[in-house]
Amino acid sequence: MNIWPVPQVKIGENSILEIPAALDSLGADKVMVVTDSGIIKAGIYAKIEKVLKDAGKQIILVDDVKPDPSMQLVDSIARKARTSGAQAVIGLGGGSSIDSAKVAAALVGNEGSIKDYLGVGLLPKPGLPILAVPTTAGTGSEVTYLSILSDLENETKKGFGTPFIMPKFAFLDPLLTLGLPPHITAATGMDALCHCVEAYTSANANDYSDAMAVKAIKLIGANIRTAFNDGANIKARENMLIGSLMAGIAFANAGVTAVHAFAYPLGGMFHVPHGLANSLMLPVIIKFNASAMKDRFGHVAELLTGKTGVDWQDCIAEVERLSEDVKLPRNLKAIDIPEDAIGPMSVSVMDQTRLLVNNPREVTQADAFDIYTEAYNR
Ligand SMILES: NC(=O)c1ccc[n+]([C@@H]2O[C@H](COP(=O)([O-])OP(=O)(O)OC[C@H]3O[C@@H](n4cnc5c(N)ncnc54)[C@H](O)[C@@H]3O)[C@@H](O)[C@H]2O)c1
Ligand SMILES: [Fe+2]
Repeated sequence: MNIWPVPQVKIGENSILEIPAALDSLGADKVMVVTDSGIIKAGIYAKIEKVLKDAGKQIILVDDVKPDPSMQLVDSIARKARTSGAQAVIGLGGGSSIDSAKVAAALVGNEGSIKDYLGVGLLPKPGLPILAVPTTAGTGSEVTYLSILSDLENETKKGFGTPFIMPKFAFLDPLLTLGLPPHITAATGMDALCHCVEAYTSANANDYSDAMAVKAIKLIGANIRTAFNDGANIKARENMLIGSLMAGIAFANAGVTAVHAFAYPLGGMFHVPHGLANSLMLPVIIKFNASAMKDRFGHVAELLTGKTGVDWQDCIAEVERLSEDVKLPRNLKAIDIPEDAIGPMSVSVMDQTRLLVNNPREVTQADAFDIYTEAYNR
């Protein structure tokens, strides 16, 4: 059993005030902040800027991250980071900003392009230390050794993994997430739910990932509706951040399974937001996988509903109810995926071997076609 280290994590209202002390401990006076235009517009960057400036830190701002960042984008941020003199990198935003910050920081210590190092464990040297400030409760990128990048040429998404991109510090401040719009709260929250359900039902689950996954499923199941309906509820926002953190730790140690594998072609070919793509696939994959792990899916149903005596079929019903309650679409048809994309997507998904290897049931290409067909029509 292998347990990945986690960053030092500061959780709570105004925990961002502790960023300067963390930078001091790293000997960093000049810091690059990597974020996107939505975070600037929401006034979140201004808060971080004030905290850093009040502490006398110099800032290099990069604010052009796009959702599902591409390899070209992270290469261009890395070029800036290499010449900027930055001593640390802060990823501020959702998974797109944090993933971009992590890759750019790591490339500072190495030559060339991210294309040279795709896969897991191929980066030779460490780069700059990373601090993560998540503003969505979803990806768990603040506690993973992974970044997910768009491969524009092949219309898919690829993973980059190395211990060198595990952040040194993470700051989970619920006040930064109060203005997250409901539809993004819903999609990112379902991403986090997928992380812990998939980790719990992964072929590589272990005692440590199980403990994290079980608590994360409970936290997310109990708080996602409140966070969606009443975005200003600080307790629900904080619980979602803790849930997504623990879900991130769970999947960093157990892996995610076919839900994420099937979501990637939807993101790569049709730019379906990551969390939405996962939520569309979740009930279909639970149905496919149930025969391999009936007890575990039954336990997920118990954790989500708080009831005993429920089984794997209740698990499917409950995740369907959840995504309906947070107003996410039910099937691929509803988001205008063309039916004739089912064939190409079922070819593309078979390349996600890094994830499919964790699935509790083998997936063949014929299965993949049937799974997408069901996700389209259901
Ligand atoms: N590294 C990992 O382990 C990991 C895991 C899962 C997903 N991912 C990746 O993360 C990316 C998705 O990240 P995401 O789902 O967090 O979305 P995102 O980072 O793409 O952000 C989505 C939108 O929400 C806006 N936003 C974020 N926080 C806000 C706030 N508090 N208030 C107002 N607007 C806000 C952003 O500006 C952006 O427009 C994908 O590329 C996905 O593949 C990475
Ligand atoms: Fe995810």
